[in-house]
Amino acid sequence: MCLLLVVAGNETTRHTITHSMLALLQHPEQLARLKDDPSLIPTAVEEFLRWASPVYHFRRTATRDVELGGKQIKEGDKVVMWFASGNRDEKVFGDPYDFDVARQDNDHVTFGKGSPHLCLGNLLARTEIRIMFEELIPRLADIRLAGDVPRVRSNFVNGIKKLPVEVTLA
Ligand code: HEM
Repeated sequence: MCLLLVVAGNETTRHTITHSMLALLQHPEQLARLKDDPSLIPTAVEEFLRWASPVYHFRRTATRDVELGGKQIKEGDKVVMWFASGNRDEKVFGDPYDFDVARQDNDHVTFGKGSPHLCLGNLLARTEIRIMFEELIPRLADIRLAGDVPRVRSNFVNGIKKLPVEVTLA
């Protein structure tokens, strides 16, 4: 149980923070919006979580027959939920491939959804990510990428191994 909590809480949250910083570096106008108006940061955290989708998928076992999206799923079937795909669903999100720190009605599935397994740590993760950017952004006069950004080779965790940056402090 301790190992589950440590791994579930560590890998996911730090990869979200790294992906969010990379997205802000790739979309400097979005970083500027957060610098100008830090009260946007809690809203931005939801976009960070949608954009990063640090857990690609989980597999669950259907407990009863159900029809979903025109497909028949039988009790006992194994079902893979692709959170990364759900978070780019054009029926749910306007312009899903746009990174928008002020996105409204951001009904992402990064922590699962409508499930008894909804992420136990979702409030802790949201708090950690919010505090990280509330503390970091006001300290940055400038931040630039300073090298390659190698990815974790995995079909489960959307991870970044290294994000080299050069920072000028405010
Ligand atoms: C950005 C950070 C995080 C992401 C993206 C994430 C993602 C997920 C996902 C997708 C699930 C499965 C949901 C489902 O099957 O419906 C899950 C379950 C879980 N998460 Fe997280 N998680 C994060 C942070 C944390 C933290 C900080 C903790 C605890 C310290 C944690 C503990 C757990 C546990 C214990 C479960 C299993 C819950 C159950 O089966 O009842 N997670 N998480």
